[in-house]
Amino acid sequence: MQLFDDETAIVTGAGNGIGRAIALALVREGVPTIFADVKTDTVESAVAEATAAAQAAVKAGTAKKVTPAIPWVGDLADPAEREALLVAARAELGTVNLFVHSASPPRHERDHLFGVDQATWERMRAVNLDAGFHLARELARGMIDQKVAGSMLLLTSLHAITPRNLPHYSTTKAGMAMLVKELAKGLGRYGIRVNALVPGAIAAGGFVASPEMARHIPLGRLGRAEDLAPMALSVLSNRTAGYVTGTSIVVDGGLALKNWFEPPEFGEIV
Ligand SMILES: NC(=O)c1ccc[n+]([C@@H]2O[C@H](COP(=O)([O-])OP(=O)(O)OC[C@H]3O[C@@H](n4cnc5c(N)ncnc54)[C@H](O)[C@@H]3O)[C@@H](O)[C@H]2O)c1
Repeated sequence: MQLFDDETAIVTGAGNGIGRAIALALVREGVPTIFADVKTDTVESAVAEATAAAQAAVKAGTAKKVTPAIPWVGDLADPAEREALLVAARAELGTVNLFVHSASPPRHERDHLFGVDQATWERMRAVNLDAGFHLARELARGMIDQKVAGSMLLLTSLHAITPRNLPHYSTTKAGMAMLVKELAKGLGRYGIRVNALVPGAIAAGGFVASPEMARHIPLGRLGRAEDLAPMALSVLSNRTAGYVTGTSIVVDGGLALKNWFEPPEFGEIV
């Protein structure tokens, strides 16, 4: 089944992990896609991988032309750089109508209740929540102006609703979960759908999981970024999810059925 027609996409966090897997899958489906990330080397290698696959598809006769995979490198914690991404996207693709927000700063166990400092707190909020809101709203303005339908997917977390011992992370994910609902409610009348994709324990780079954790997962293994990409495409596509908005789709092998996080040792609190 063909999932997309003339859509174009921005994927943040496309240099690594889940964002990368989704961006690669979009290009495989023929969607011109901007790979946005703060890391130059990983964006370049993701774009090279996407382009090589797109060229191979043309050679094999399964695609008519090479689908563009476009790199964009910048820090989405910075409002000016978010604006630069929107300007670059307009110049490269015109009106963008698919948006995936997967970028998120690294999570470190040391950033617990008493460990997290102000800069780390603010950076997490700026990338996860502020960039998610700003980019989604500005892309929606463009779609409404051009009268095109669209779809957005924000990567939240099981820790949007259960604590994770990382308060800067879980609180921004909770904020993103409500942002999805606000956007979906406000944008539905314009044909713009907005949903959350909720990964479980995905050994994708941003989360360093002990293999021992698999025993807490009913399906018996940690997740892979590639477990998320097919669901992401299905939810983004109007063909398969045209009546789905404002909801959270969990891809976790059943992890949410268990509550496995132990409180951390804080050490000496002074
Ligand atoms: N991996 C998991 O188990 C898991 C679980 C729940 C939720 N998630 C969520 O899914 C998303 C992807 O997770 P992942 O494990 O693939 O993460 P990851 O760390 O592998 O990838 C995140 C990407 O975001 C980029 N990034 C970080 N700060 C940025 C900034 N300021 N500007 C632009 N790009 C920036 C990083 O360079 C990286 O490429 C995240 O939002 C994460 O919170 C992941």
